[in-house]
Amino acid sequence: MPDVDMTTRLGALELPSPVLTASGCAAAGRELDQFFDITEIGAVVTKSIMLNPRSGRPTPRMAETPSGMLNSIGLQGPGIEAFLDNDLEWLRARGARTVVSIAGGSVDEYTRLASKLRHVSEVAAIEVNISCPNVEDRGQVFACRAGSAADVVSAVRRNTNPGVPVLAKLSPDVTDIVEIAQAVVDAGADGLSLINTLLGMVIDTDTLRPALAGVTGGLSGPAIRPVAVRCVYQVHAALPDVPILGMGGIRTGLDALEFVLAGASAVSVGTVTFHDPSAPLRVARELAVALAERGFGSLEEAVGFAHRAPDPEPASGGPVSAHGAPDEDADDTVAAGAEG
Ligand SMILES: Cc1cc2nc3c(=O)[nH]c(=O)nc-3n(C[C@H](O)[C@H](O)[C@H](O)COP(=O)(O)O)c2cc1C
Repeated sequence: MPDVDMTTRLGALELPSPVLTASGCAAAGRELDQFFDITEIGAVVTKSIMLNPRSGRPTPRMAETPSGMLNSIGLQGPGIEAFLDNDLEWLRARGARTVVSIAGGSVDEYTRLASKLRHVSEVAAIEVNISCPNVEDRGQVFACRAGSAADVVSAVRRNTNPGVPVLAKLSPDVTDIVEIAQAVVDAGADGLSLINTLLGMVIDTDTLRPALAGVTGGLSGPAIRPVAVRCVYQVHAALPDVPILGMGGIRTGLDALEFVLAGASAVSVGTVTFHDPSAPLRVARELAVALAERGFGSLEEAVGFAHRAPDPEPASGGPVSAHGAPDEDADDTVAAGAEG
């Protein structure tokens, strides 16, 4: 491994590595632990857990798309009690850092979930998935309205141990993600997870019907990466002191580097793990190499680096190092066009 300090912080949570799993793509880490040591990554982010067991939406609930996939799993899960007894207990025994993702249909459901987790010492952070429909508000998705997003986050923050960071996971399906980010930060979020899937659909041209039984689903994978990087960049520009956990289509260390340069202090790796289960560890190694090649001594130095003012003199057009000077040693196949 190159000599780069990869430690990072998400609010009060210090992590030895900035690469985490993405909620819903690695269950509670047990399956991935067959492929690599899950204590070596930053943290396991669990599938969003709800108050009661749920079987999710009807099948088919996965569809392929160019450069990504569509899912309409619909938050299938065992409910909080079984999660605490089985999954969280296993993660504790395994020694993995655990970010628990929670989801609900009403503010009261989120409140009760947070209260149940309050005295569980294994919880490193809570990720609040607010991309679910609010059953009390005509099915509107919480994350699509500043007011409802803030209501959930303030309820969770009030009911969570003050030392445990609360991360709000936002949807890109809004006109102005900065407005929602500002609202949840004002409501007490310590950090932001950006982004959840984009709403999409596929129509089967043989059956001439929607391919998913649930009609619409969440688009993930490389297709959404430019949208995700844009969201991270815009939010970091507006709220530079708020830690961001970035995600959306990350397959390689260079993909992860894009998020870091845009302003993410850590990243989650999701869809790619379905065909490369060891991707979270591989991405962490590749990110360390990519940082070293660009002259960064630590991950922290690179966070938000794409926001720096343009150089006063037109650069030579060659690749640059972290110190801004054209870098003779850099690999121009990846760094070309970084400036100039
Ligand atoms: C099959 C599947 C299930 C998911 N389940 C959840 C979930 O339970 N909670 C959540 O917040 N996000 C969930 N997501 C969204 C991911 O955590 C992530 O935000 C999104 O997929 C973008 O990252 P990626 O392109 O690397 O997968 C799910 C994504 C997929 C593909």
